[in-house]
Amino acid sequence: MKFVNEIYEGLAYVGVNDRKTTLFEKYIPISNGVSYNSYLFLDDKTCLMDTVEFDFTREFLANIKDALAGRNLDYLVVQHMEPDHCAAIEEVLLRYPDLTIVSNLAVFKMLGQFFGFEIKNKLVVKENDTLDLGKHMLKFILAPFVHWPEVMFTYEATTGTLFTADAFGSFGALSGNLFYDEVNEPNYLNEARRYYTNIVGKYGQNVLNAFKKLEGLELNYLCPLHGYLWRNDFSAILNMYKKLASYEAIDKEVVLIYASMYGNTEEAANILANMLAKKGLKNIKAYDVSLTDKTYLISEIFRVSHVVFLAPTYNNAMYPNLNSLLVQMENLNVSNKTFAIVENGTWCATCGKILASYLENLRNSIILESKVTIKSSLSDSNIDELDTLAEALKASIEE
Ligand code: FEO
Repeated sequence: MKFVNEIYEGLAYVGVNDRKTTLFEKYIPISNGVSYNSYLFLDDKTCLMDTVEFDFTREFLANIKDALAGRNLDYLVVQHMEPDHCAAIEEVLLRYPDLTIVSNLAVFKMLGQFFGFEIKNKLVVKENDTLDLGKHMLKFILAPFVHWPEVMFTYEATTGTLFTADAFGSFGALSGNLFYDEVNEPNYLNEARRYYTNIVGKYGQNVLNAFKKLEGLELNYLCPLHGYLWRNDFSAILNMYKKLASYEAIDKEVVLIYASMYGNTEEAANILANMLAKKGLKNIKAYDVSLTDKTYLISEIFRVSHVVFLAPTYNNAMYPNLNSLLVQMENLNVSNKTFAIVENGTWCATCGKILASYLENLRNSIILESKVTIKSSLSDSNIDELDTLAEALKASIEE
């Protein structure tokens, strides 16, 4: 192996880094890129774990060739059929036509849908089936809807390695170092949270179901399809996942999300934030819904216990940028939150009612009664009402 990295003896990292794509899935900003991870067992048999996004095929094939050092490729395990991981399968098959594709029936069905080519050698596996590579033995663990329905994890018992598909992944390209414990990136877990909540957030119960199957397994390495690998101490990422998958807030804190065309509703957000701070609340965050990408807001909404929406009425309806956030919250199963509403309207303030109709549909949501209605700009009585709302939020957070 001249240039690819070894994870341990017998397992090489052959993934690639994408610093070209600006929008993951064409809507999620990734200013630090993303990695498409792939792994290669070099045992009596050689076995590739997943492939990469199509644009990176040339580099990927070079990595495989380097790691194989003249050997043939015996197996390709496909754990997930989203094209950021499966798009290079045909090219791998053209290079290594005798390899056997190993996966479950749902994967083979999707392979037909995406590519339509004839698969010469295939091995269909079911829950807990194994594949003997020599020193390493792979066991397959179905993990449906840990993003897509065909997803499976793969466990290698002699080393305690779990290949986790999209689970435990993150945005951010890798720069040589493969393990989270080798870098100093304080924002990485935030990005892992933004990745989880926006990509897998809808499927919390499925993630918990998959985790249940892992109980009792000795785990030394977690190898996701994106981002850093984890070894030995998984507490930071595991604890975060357990909370997020259960739709439990990580922090008993409040975020304010406001829409404001001319500054009047924004002023209410700033004053409310100050009032909350004066009452002793910490780590309050305020975001302009028009200036903060929705994927960051979704990540923040999952993180905290309390969310205040402040919005103007727009065409007798919801402000468009806030509307799309609310639709996404419902789509991602946001649950167990306490909300507060501040509405604004010059002749007809109706958006509070519309906001409430979205929020009360979310599972286990509480909407505080102290709604504030602004008529164009803040009145003296509005200031008092904001103070009452701040008090109600503090009481609710301290419950
Ligand atoms: Fe990274 Fe669901 O694909």
